[in-house]
Amino acid sequence: MPKIAAPTPTIIEEAAELLRSGDLVAFPTETVYGLGADATNGEAVAKIFAAKGRPSFNPLISHGANLDMLLGEAIFDDRALALADKFWPGPLTMILPRKDGGLISDLACAGLKTVALRVPNHPVALELIAKAGKPIAAPSANASGTLSPTAPHHVADSLGEAVPLILAGGAAQFGLESTVVDLTGPDTVIVRAGALTAEDVSACIDAPVTYELEATDKPRSPGQLLKHYAPNIPIRLRAVDVAPDEALLAFGSVKFMGVRGGGSASGLPHDQIRNLSETGDLLEAAANLFAYIRQLDNPKFKGIAVMDIPATGIGIAMNDRLTRAAAS
Ligand code: TXA
Ligand code: MG
Repeated sequence: MPKIAAPTPTIIEEAAELLRSGDLVAFPTETVYGLGADATNGEAVAKIFAAKGRPSFNPLISHGANLDMLLGEAIFDDRALALADKFWPGPLTMILPRKDGGLISDLACAGLKTVALRVPNHPVALELIAKAGKPIAAPSANASGTLSPTAPHHVADSLGEAVPLILAGGAAQFGLESTVVDLTGPDTVIVRAGALTAEDVSACIDAPVTYELEATDKPRSPGQLLKHYAPNIPIRLRAVDVAPDEALLAFGSVKFMGVRGGGSASGLPHDQIRNLSETGDLLEAAANLFAYIRQLDNPKFKGIAVMDIPATGIGIAMNDRLTRAAAS
């Protein structure tokens, strides 16, 4: 069983060190228990998806210890600043445009140009995040498709050994995830209902607020989101060779990848090839996925050939994302 520990200063320091070194820690918030990883470290975030056993990537909420920690990650307009001032720390998540130079990883945002941010209202969460010194990505700390955890033993029962340390903080106060508000456009839209209502939000920003709820755990407007996942040039999956005018998204050794017409993929110029993981490490590959697709998405290539990625563990989510990109 994983370690469940009372959040003494020593244990919180140990937990913060686990987060800084790229490991997972489950921690209490006022809504539900979260499964946290350093949001700025793609491989650490990949561990969240692997532990939850999710078959696809969805964008995660990055948690700050305060507004200051998050100001560099997103463009906060007047509405966002007013909402942060009134409701943070608290059960409100804001979706905002990502800011250039932000440190949150592409994987935490599932490759989107937007980011979900919140400051939780729980002393253990706040101390942990402050000590870690970085935004912490944290979905609910349960296996995919199971109930959200409101007590430390729920986390242990659901995730088992996948999480090395669970900070115990009693029962979660709300037992319901935070309200998610999309502020990326001129309209203010609640995309996940939670403890705060549209009236609360509307009164704060003095503007109308609508609900546009998606099915549980599905991001808003999947059609729109899929466009972000898809590069402008076609994707060809399970490639066993590469055309001279194609880019190559490699996985593992390229020793036996040939270039049509002669030559080996290992001789391709740097701008034409990216290797998700030369050693075939799926966590490393997941962390690189979105950035590498973007880097190869160049109109001078007729498409991107993608080598086979094993459909095990987090490879299932990677294949899901690539298949959607190939189909669009
Ligand atoms: O109460 C909570 O919010 C808990 C605790 C642990 O803080 N966390 C949580 O995180 O529920 P998560 O990552 O499971 O919630 C993500 C929600 C999903 O509904 C997702 O679709 C939405 O936020 N979301 C995140 N980033 C988004 C984005 N860039 N665009 C649209 N939706 C986004
Ligand atoms: Mg959940």
